[in-house]
Formats: sequence, C-alpha cells, structure tokens
Amino acid sequence: MKVQKSMELDSKVDLYVTVTPTVIVIGMFYAEWVAQPPTAFDPFHQLKSQVGVMVPLTNGTGTSLAVDLGANTPQYDARRIPTAVTTTPDAGLYLKNHEKFLEVLETTESAFAANLSYTIQPVASATIREGNARRGNTFGLDPMPQIWWSMVVEWDDETKDAQAQQTLKTMDGNLRSIAQSRGELIRYQFMNDASFMQTVLDSYGEDNLARLRSTAKHYDPSRVFQELQNDGFLLRKI
Ligand SMILES: *[C@@H]1O[C@H](CO)[C@@H](O)[C@H](O)[C@H]1NC(C)=O
Ligand SMILES: *[C@@H]1O[C@H](CO)[C@@H](O)[C@H](O)[C@H]1NC(C)=O
Repeated sequence: MKVQKSMELDSKVDLYVTVTPTVIVIGMFYAEWVAQPPTAFDPFHQLKSQVGVMVPLTNGTGTSLAVDLGANTPQYDARRIPTAVTTTPDAGLYLKNHEKFLEVLETTESAFAANLSYTIQPVASATIREGNARRGNTFGLDPMPQIWWSMVVEWDDETKDAQAQQTLKTMDGNLRSIAQSRGELIRYQFMNDASFMQTVLDSYGEDNLARLRSTAKHYDPSRVFQELQNDGFLLRKI
C-alpha cells in the first residue's frame, strides 16, 4: 500500500508482489538509472532479516531482467492456468484474500499435487493517464490506482485438469466476492493474465466492445478471424 502511494507521486516507481506458500517475491523497479535507490521501497527494505536477494540491485533493461529472472526461477514442466482480477488497492482486501488463499491451499494439498500462487500488480493512475494521452486504448480504465491480480494454479497430472480449473475458479471467485462486498471490484480483466475460462473483451465495457465489433466488421467482414481462429479471446464468444 505504501509503495503504491509512492507510485502515485512518482510514476517511475513500479512493483509486483508474488505470494507463494513458501516465499514472497518482491519485484522493485525504477524507470531511471539513479545513483541512490529510491526511498519508495524502504517499507520492504525495512523488513531487514526477513529479506533475501534474488536478483541484486542492477542498472538493467527489460531484457537483462528477463535473463536474471529466468536464471533464478526453478525450471520444471507443469500445466498452468492463470486468472485475472482487477480491484482497487486495499490492505484489508489483501489480508482477507490471503486467508482465503490459505484455505484453498489446505483443501488442495489433500486433494492433488499443485502449486498455487498469486501476484499483486499495482498500476498507477499516471500509467492510465499516459495511455489515454497517447490516443487511448480499448481497456475502458478509469485513471485511478488499481491492482491487476494474477492468480495461478500449476499441476502436472492431466487427470486433475478439472480439479485444477475448479481450484482456480474458487480462487478467482473468492477474491471477486471479497472485493465486491467491499465495493473494490473493477470490471477490467488484464488479458495477459486471463484464463481461457474468461472472455476478457466484455470486461472493457459496452462502448469499447462496440468499437471492437465495428473494427472487426470493417477489416474482417467475412469473419475469418472469428470463425477460423480456433481459440482465444474472441468477439464471437461474447
Ligand atoms: C546506476 O547508474 C547510476 C547513474 O549512472 C550510478 O550512479 C549508479 O551507481 C548505478 N548503480 C548500480 C547498482 O550500478
Ligand atoms: C511445484 O514447484 C516446484 C518448484 O518450486 C517444482 O519442483 C514442482 O514440480 C512443482 N509441482 C507442480 C505440481 O507443479
């Protein structure tokens, strides 16, 4: 919450927090090579003894970051589905969601072998305003601080596909209902983190959907991409 407040004051600050049952990974980014690390991340550094370094403080690029993360991430074969949920930021919501996460974890552990995790991805209002200033997009976002959550289930036994999907739906549903009851649910779904069970494009709102439909009609009047494209986040599914 504190770092996200800093993001509202300094649009170069960026953060993600990935929570797994055994470790919490904090990604701390600043969009400039500076002499001193920004104080925005002090709330995390102040945890001191609880913190280990996964990737050392670096002046890097998007590419060097991807390489570092790849080198530091365990490699294993797994089946994997994510789900995308958007809310406003709220510490109380994070706690409630984590309690529910632990409940799901317990039921899952006794049912089948899976790794469950979730990521809190804060998005600053400045990011949305910048997008709108550059002729906008179809996402239908209001310029306000928000969290693009990604929840993930990984498993390896294909006979457990239905159970894994149900587990993900439960995680998704829990977060949605907690957020809804607190008036903190935002309609938008971030496509990059959405599952095939979500339709995504309808989360952009009626006006944007209409714009996408008329664009599709204009450039693809015979609906090649709607009919022959076997799957994806397609207008034909809405
Ligand atoms: C990053 O670059 C800045 C500006 O050149 C420099 O002052 C700083 O020491 C560098 N930091 C690291 C960790 O290399
Ligand atoms: C869970 O993650 C660990 C690495 O952290 C991996 O070794 C294991 O295979 C994963 N299990 C499943 C079911 O994906």
